[in-house]
Amino acid sequence: MNAISSNPDSSIDSEQNKKSPVSDSSTDTMSSTEQNDSSNAALNSQGQQMWGGRFSEATDSFVAAFTASVGFDQRFARHDIQGSIAHATMLGRCGILADDEVTTIIEGLRQVLAEIEAGEFEWSIALEDVHMNVESRLTDMIGAVGKKLHTGRSRNDQVATDIRLWLREETDNIIELLVRLQSGLLNLAEQHTDTIMPGFTHLQTAQPVSFGHHVMAWFEMLYRDTQRLKDARRRMNQMPLGSAALAGTTFPIDRTITAELLGFEGICQNSLDAVSDRDFAIEFTSNASILMMHLSRMSEEIILWMSAQFNFVQIPDRFCTGSSIMPQKKNPDVPELVRGKSARVFGQLMTLLSLMKSQPLAYNKDNQEDKEPLFDCVDTLTGSLLAFADMLPNITPNIEAMRAATMKGYATATDLADYLVRNGVAFRDAHEVVGHAVALGIKEGVDLSDLSLAQLQQFSDAIGDDVFEYLTLEGSLAARDHLGGTAPNQVKQAVINGRSRLKAFA
Ligand code: ARG
Repeated sequence: MNAISSNPDSSIDSEQNKKSPVSDSSTDTMSSTEQNDSSNAALNSQGQQMWGGRFSEATDSFVAAFTASVGFDQRFARHDIQGSIAHATMLGRCGILADDEVTTIIEGLRQVLAEIEAGEFEWSIALEDVHMNVESRLTDMIGAVGKKLHTGRSRNDQVATDIRLWLREETDNIIELLVRLQSGLLNLAEQHTDTIMPGFTHLQTAQPVSFGHHVMAWFEMLYRDTQRLKDARRRMNQMPLGSAALAGTTFPIDRTITAELLGFEGICQNSLDAVSDRDFAIEFTSNASILMMHLSRMSEEIILWMSAQFNFVQIPDRFCTGSSIMPQKKNPDVPELVRGKSARVFGQLMTLLSLMKSQPLAYNKDNQEDKEPLFDCVDTLTGSLLAFADMLPNITPNIEAMRAATMKGYATATDLADYLVRNGVAFRDAHEVVGHAVALGIKEGVDLSDLSLAQLQQFSDAIGDDVFEYLTLEGSLAARDHLGGTAPNQVKQAVINGRSRLKAFA
């Protein structure tokens, strides 16, 4: 018999789960208190597993530990119980269980939840997963009526429901963090619509932009990420319950009751698909990967900008660490770590895609492997967003250094070409004229605006003495005065629009 042992040293932590389980009876239990084998509801009347009726020998202890998921899926306990309460309620309303049975089951489930939340629940590896642990404890508590809860249900539709309920909640937390981060960025952009910095392409100075405009580019990336998560939430929020093992159930269930009780927007339309696919988790992880890619790009910019060579920004000390040997160091650890952590989220996406790719319909045990990648993805993303929501809106630009950097690299060369075009020169000719002027500037070691009118006019007689107002950084910015451009009044408008668009996620 694969009994539940009473090793007082064993504990619930995941380390316990990682220990080699071979022939070690202590791994059969995750409890710190004694349990009485014969009274354990996990076992049937012959002292076998819940599903042990057709078996002639007990599960090998290594196999029991190897196949168990309770070490990690206990994270779903609250959602599992929420689902069970809804299921029991539905069974009652449909006349499948008697009202008093339903009342007893629901009260029992609430007690089980209280035990779990108080940290007093004894998780057992012998009971494999969160579902059987909860059900077994329920039957311990309320007696034989607890065994009726699983009527018209399977762990296959149960787990698919749990993941969706859990991920829906995590998605909402993540969206909340994203909204916080985006409002912080809107405030930062608003303060810096006139702060000038070099805009880059190929990481070479391209044209002047405002720092506020750059920050609003980050806002837009995060805005689309939020939209993607919101959109994926609708597909995630469909209820598998009622699909039972794979084909549905012979009982006269009403799935609309459970769906409504659980706040699902709809019901999975095919039982085979409902218990089997994890595309909603893959979609979430894919959206998380895109989001982490964005955070990684922002991280890269901050890291670069914090270097002495750029000296564009500072981030508060609380997001940095020092060096054990070099006293001068202030290292941008948080953005570096977020950049690094994007790699593991991408990895989890590959894990989930690979997990699904060869699975025939319907449920396969492979799917138990969906949880840890998904948990890691959610935890990594949530942690990164928590850090960013506080850090990113609190970066301080070094306005003088940004301006000085914009003065290098001939950032207003395009403005001079556009000026020539307005004075009748074809753009390709104007491009060449300005190329010559830049070459002269490089030779003399000065900016275009430092060349004299006579020096400029030798390249084109379309240049007049009004040219210098177009070569200033402020003039360059102000001239890009259309929707999506960097002119300060456009950036101000973008902030206002951003604030009202953000309300859609509230
Ligand atoms: N622990 C399982 C999982 O995570 C629950 C479903 C088990 N179903 C089964 N037929 N063995 O996927």
